[in-house]
Amino acid sequence: MTAENAKLYRCPVCDTVVEMLDRVGMELVCCGPPMEPLEANVAQWQAPAHIPLVRHDARGITVRVGDGRHPMDADHHIQWIELRCGAVCTRQFLQPGQTPQVFFAGVDLSKELILRVYCNLHGLWQSRVSIGCGARRHRPRPAADGNAACRSAQWAAPSAAGFVA
Ligand SMILES: [Fe+2]
Repeated sequence: MTAENAKLYRCPVCDTVVEMLDRVGMELVCCGPPMEPLEANVAQWQAPAHIPLVRHDARGITVRVGDGRHPMDADHHIQWIELRCGAVCTRQFLQPGQTPQVFFAGVDLSKELILRVYCNLHGLWQSRVSIGCGARRHRPRPAADGNAACRSAQWAAPSAAGFVA
C-alpha cells in the first residue's frame, strides 16, 4: 500500500470530509447520498493563491501556499498542508491566524514530492515537484555557512507537466 491509495471523500449535503486509506469496494454514506471523491484542483492559472510551492535546504522542505497571502480567517483558511513522498504521508493541520506555510524535516529529496493543501472554501489543491537531490544529475553546492548543503533560494513551482488530476 502506498500513500496514493488514500482518497478523500466529501458529503454533498453537509460537506464532511473523510479519508479512505484503502479502497475495499464499499460505498461511503454520510447524510444519505453517497459521498463523492474529492478530486484535486490542479490548474494554476485558475487560482494561483492555492498552488503549493516548495523551497528546500539540507534539513528539509518548506511548503508555501501560493504567494503566501491566502486568507487565514475563520471563514476562509487553509485547513492543512500535506506532503506525500514515497510511502510517507505527513499532514500539518493549521488554524485561522496561522501562516499557511509548513516545514517538513528529513524529506527524501531524491523522490518525487506530492504536495496537497485543503482550503475550507476552495477545496483540495495538489502539485508534484521533483527536486532531484540525491540523483546523479544533481550536485549539492557548498552553502554559505560552510556546510555541504543543498538548498534553493527560490520557491519552486511545479511544471505544467507536473500537475496531476
Ligand atoms: Fe481559498
